[in-house]
Amino acid sequence: MTITIIGSGYVGTTFAAILSNCGYKVYALDINPKIIESLKNKKAHFFEVGLNDFVKKGIESGNLIPTTSYKDSIANSDVVFSCVGTPDNPDGSSNLTYVFDSALEAAKYAKEGLIYVQKSTVPVGTGKRVLEKVKKANPNLLIHYISNPEFLREGSAVFDTFLTDRVVVGGEHKQSIKTVLDIHKKVSEYATKIDFSLYEEFANVFSDKIQNIDEKIKDIKYLSTSLESAELIKVTANAFLALKISFANSVAKLAQKFDADVNEVMDGVGSDARIGRSFLYAGLGWGGGCFPKDVSGLISLFEQNNIQNPIMDAAVSENHSMAAYLIGLMENELGSLKNKKIAILGLAFKSGTSDCRRSPSINLANELIKKGAVVSAFDPKANSEAMEYIDSEVKVKDSAEDLLKNIDSVVIATEWPEFKEYDWKNLLGEISTKTIFDARNILDKQKLQKIGYKYVGIGK
Ligand code: UDX
Repeated sequence: MTITIIGSGYVGTTFAAILSNCGYKVYALDINPKIIESLKNKKAHFFEVGLNDFVKKGIESGNLIPTTSYKDSIANSDVVFSCVGTPDNPDGSSNLTYVFDSALEAAKYAKEGLIYVQKSTVPVGTGKRVLEKVKKANPNLLIHYISNPEFLREGSAVFDTFLTDRVVVGGEHKQSIKTVLDIHKKVSEYATKIDFSLYEEFANVFSDKIQNIDEKIKDIKYLSTSLESAELIKVTANAFLALKISFANSVAKLAQKFDADVNEVMDGVGSDARIGRSFLYAGLGWGGGCFPKDVSGLISLFEQNNIQNPIMDAAVSENHSMAAYLIGLMENELGSLKNKKIAILGLAFKSGTSDCRRSPSINLANELIKKGAVVSAFDPKANSEAMEYIDSEVKVKDSAEDLLKNIDSVVIATEWPEFKEYDWKNLLGEISTKTIFDARNILDKQKLQKIGYKYVGIGK
């Protein structure tokens, strides 16, 4: 079976690399020649834990073929996965230009009976619109359209591709649904046969999670649904997770007032199996390439259909409040921030990725500049991607050592595990106010207090 993956972003590159390692012949198709050049050189154009080893093996085996040509790839393919970007429009609605354009371009070269699978996150109803457009442009072409939303997270994209909670496949054509489900089953079966010691970077980070993977994959749920249900499942899941985080953040503010510890509170709350502990970690709020745009897309879909949905509006405004909330905590401790030398650890929107799209850390850095603070920052992986979004007044440093010198205070803004390992005892002398703001609640409060720090977390 030959497969084309349209779009070599986080989802497309990961899926293409892994499918090619499973033995499929896979074209990774992207209109950006730089991205394709990078793949030909055996590297993704972004950082994702462990991914490059799979890209390298895919290219070296000849199974992974990066290309900018629709003709060369689509004409030879039995199945196409569309993994193109769906950014938001200025009004919050989803911009489907790439979804429609790539489907129309692919249809020009499609074989009769091609299975066209939408992995991009799209509003419910998009599949029907794609099919209408394709039919209008190619009245005699028969393709089977399937929705197969992707749930992988950046930072654990490879692992999530092997072991997901569920695979959702929606559409009308039963055989095509089965084909797409079978591709996913093959990926997870392949995961049980891998010698992970050959994939060192991946194995180091995910050593615990890949234990007994053969047993764990038995729990994957394979759901076959209608086209529209599949489309709605994806955005609803992301919106609900964003809602959980915003809820935890608002409770954190209350916990802080009463000297409760939001982590302890959420450990207790999340132990209720009906609620669950995940996505109840308070911090600077949610960012990245998915939650913000998926939530605004869902809100605008509710609006377009005249259905009231104040819950998601509240989740968004809670999220927007977090930078100002932290700055308030900082002003309480440090007084005016004007000319205060503040170091920010972490610029990526979360750990495990170099992605800085809508990063709460960068938003914080930019807001601190507006307050007149002298801001410097360092991220282990995201320094260069941060440049696109960060205020030019923020001094981005090459190392933590450079950053944590002669400053007034420090903020942990992304939850990179290595920040926990720093020699905080020795660093105390470099921080004039001895105050540390742990905006991701990852450090040990008691330990830092013992060393002599004033510790301020979010809700603890
Ligand atoms: C998300 C979904 O989880 C994934 O299923 C979907 O395919 C794409 O969107 P991702 O954007 O990679 O994945 O990040 P995720 O791990 O979900 O985190 C999103 C944001 O929420 C990050 O900014 C993260 O720091 C924040 N977060 C997450 C919290 O603040 N608290 C939490 O408890 C969990």
